[in-house]
Amino acid sequence: MGNDTWKILIADDDQDVLAALRLVFKAEHCEIVGCNSPDKALSSAKSHEFDLALIDLNYSEDTTSGREGLRLLTQLSGINPDLPVVVMTAWSSVALAVQAMQKGAGDFIEKPWDNQRLLSVVRNQIALGRSRRSEKRLAAENALLRGVENHRFIAESASMRSVIDVVTRVAPSSASILLTGEHGTGKSLLARHVHALSNRSRKPLVTVNVGGLAESVFESEMFGHVKGAFTDAQNERVGRFEMADGGTLFLDEIANIPMAQQAKLLRVLEEGEFERVGSSRTQTADVRVISATNTLIEDLKREAIFRQDLLFRLNTVEISLPPLRARIDDIEALCAQFLEQARTRYGGGPVGITDTAFAALKSHTWPGNVRELNHVVERALLMCGGEQIDDGDLQLNHATRQRVALESLSLEQAEHHLIETALQRNDNNVLAAAQELGLSRSAMYRRLDKHGLKDPEQS
Ligand SMILES: Nc1ncnc2c1ncn2[C@@H]1O[C@H](COP(=O)(O)OP(=O)(O)OP(=O)(O)O)[C@@H](O)[C@H]1O
Ligand SMILES: [Mg+2]
Repeated sequence: MGNDTWKILIADDDQDVLAALRLVFKAEHCEIVGCNSPDKALSSAKSHEFDLALIDLNYSEDTTSGREGLRLLTQLSGINPDLPVVVMTAWSSVALAVQAMQKGAGDFIEKPWDNQRLLSVVRNQIALGRSRRSEKRLAAENALLRGVENHRFIAESASMRSVIDVVTRVAPSSASILLTGEHGTGKSLLARHVHALSNRSRKPLVTVNVGGLAESVFESEMFGHVKGAFTDAQNERVGRFEMADGGTLFLDEIANIPMAQQAKLLRVLEEGEFERVGSSRTQTADVRVISATNTLIEDLKREAIFRQDLLFRLNTVEISLPPLRARIDDIEALCAQFLEQARTRYGGGPVGITDTAFAALKSHTWPGNVRELNHVVERALLMCGGEQIDDGDLQLNHATRQRVALESLSLEQAEHHLIETALQRNDNNVLAAAQELGLSRSAMYRRLDKHGLKDPEQS
């Protein structure tokens, strides 16, 4: 059948069938492991690599329903999602074959089988399985080497290594992941990596800043609308859920969404169903959800601000990114990457960082976390005249030195100034700035309007 030996797992409780199949495959120089029960097949699959599994659907428990075989099929793909499975059934039943295909079987064979058809089905399935596996492997390798958009996810410190451990384990599955961590700790970057490492990486990663969505547009943004659904709906619009079908939906700033919207979100997450605004046609989307928040999970667990059933949907796996001050072992590697990126952007500049500068970087408290470090390195590159960035180029107390004397300002001016500097400190993140100032989201937007400060995230 080919140059290399194929290893095939066969499960059938009929010894005669096993013997006959052995003969067929032996003539093709295949290596066969025959099992007469689902349990034995499972333990073989756990301990050996196979190119294909050929399984009967009916065993001793009952001989017509196919229940045992379908269960084995599911369990096999749980062990190895890439293992091609071909099912056999003695009681020719189209319905059962269809059910098996829906559960992930690659193809089916009716008993008594025709040797030529059996071999051709097996050959095809093995070829398909191999190309699927090598594609996946290549994609995962590339994603890791390249990083996402040439941006490696740095994780040298012990605490970040355990984050990476969890990420590599859960990324391929479709489990919902909730990322928590202070602003600038890398939640958005990590979401992109999880998607890139998942089985959905060829489908889109769609990001929605749900915390920043005005209530009036939430539904049409998330679920789309039909033409004429409301006054401004001149054209139909595809919502984010639909766009993310087959891929990943990244819901950023999840803690900031009002209760009414939480209910709408819950429904689509539970049922995978939604309607476009203005339409009564129910649509479905298969979406993996990653969400992020800088609110502590304990705060989200206080019933009052967040629906617990929604939280339960979102945090199947919870990954918490530690603040940069708690992982100074990452600082050198992060600096190296940021310096390299800045050198590319500005066409050169210093090539290294002095020990004194590193000492200063490691003792800074980094309220803006990794994002702040990136900015500090970039600014230092521009300030530095020599080959090595030194302590003085870092300007770590830059912000404090620029402080304006509030006493000299009118109330209006002071408000303007405070909002402006809060935005700067928070890298133009309106919600973070609002939180720091103790303002609600809408109060913040009103003040941005009043002071003629445009929402920097919309510009
Ligand atoms: N581990 C890391 N390795 C390399 N770069 C990182 C890492 N973590 C964060 N960064 C970089 O730091 C910056 C901030 O990260 P990111 O935007 O992902 O943070 P965030 O937690 O989503 O912040 P926010 O809560 O404000 O949305 C980005 O430029 C990102 O690429
Ligand atoms: Mg983010």
